[in-house]
Amino acid sequence: MEYEILNVAFQDNIVIVTINRPKALNALNARFFQEMDDVVSNVTNKPEIKVMIITGEGKAFVAGADIAEMVDKNSAEGSEFSRIGQHTFRSLEKLKIPVIAAINGFALGGGLELAMGCDFRIASTKAKFGQPEVSLGLIPGYAGTQRLSRLVGMGDALFLLMSAEMIGADDALRIGLVQKVFEPEVLMEEVMKIAQTLASKGPQAVKKVKAVTRQGYLMDFDKGSELEAIQFGSLFGNESEGEEGMMAFLAKRKPNW
Ligand code: CAA
Repeated sequence: MEYEILNVAFQDNIVIVTINRPKALNALNARFFQEMDDVVSNVTNKPEIKVMIITGEGKAFVAGADIAEMVDKNSAEGSEFSRIGQHTFRSLEKLKIPVIAAINGFALGGGLELAMGCDFRIASTKAKFGQPEVSLGLIPGYAGTQRLSRLVGMGDALFLLMSAEMIGADDALRIGLVQKVFEPEVLMEEVMKIAQTLASKGPQAVKKVKAVTRQGYLMDFDKGSELEAIQFGSLFGNESEGEEGMMAFLAKRKPNW
């Protein structure tokens, strides 16, 4: 598929996806979701890719769903528009490799929902965050009502969702919406360092820790712990990744994954 909106670059075993529609502050339209689904399916078929980074071109990460594309929809079309975005962002959570949001600027509405579909968020000091949908007479449609409270707790989630207040990177860090903040000039360099660190770890272990943590979060505690025990065990044994990692530690050498 030829991409009109996404710029997809490979650097060693890391894929960097840049949303490149800066004139509309990277607002998410139907074409974006087709292209993103295509990227996800391509990455799924490339076992050599170990980390995905998603960022935006210009002054926005993403300023939300494309309002011009939404305005004429009827109720059924609105729900369908919501389901398409929900599906794409859920597919990022289901992707086996880690997905990092590198938030360079505005992450509003559907943009914050995209960032929340990533495994964690690294932001520029200039980034701004918010769920402004109620200002448009709407609510979030890409599972923002579900993910925000899970990430930051009910009080901060409801405050952001009901007030439509835009917050800066310091507040986002304080409430746990983002994990690290860097100056804009070094954001991508620092995100690449984090991605390289993830790529240097046991590849099966990184995938399994994502799957067990994410699946366990939606499960009963004891069932989640049992899932952990099974996956923990799967990393042991002859020629396993765990055996290599532990032998390398004991021999004071680097593991050869
Ligand atoms: N959809 C479509 N176009 C958008 C857009 C969006 N979400 N956000 C910005 N744009 C467009 C503007 O219309 C403008 O286009 P023109 O140059 O053709 O007029 C261009 O991007 C630049 O935007 P501004 O001139 O407004 O830039 P600014 O720096 O003055 O303001 C901003 C920046 C505060 C982010 C402002 O653009 C803004 O408030 N954008 C809308 C944010 C928003 O409400 N997002 C939620 C969308 S609804 C949603 O996401 C629902 C969902 O969950 C599924």
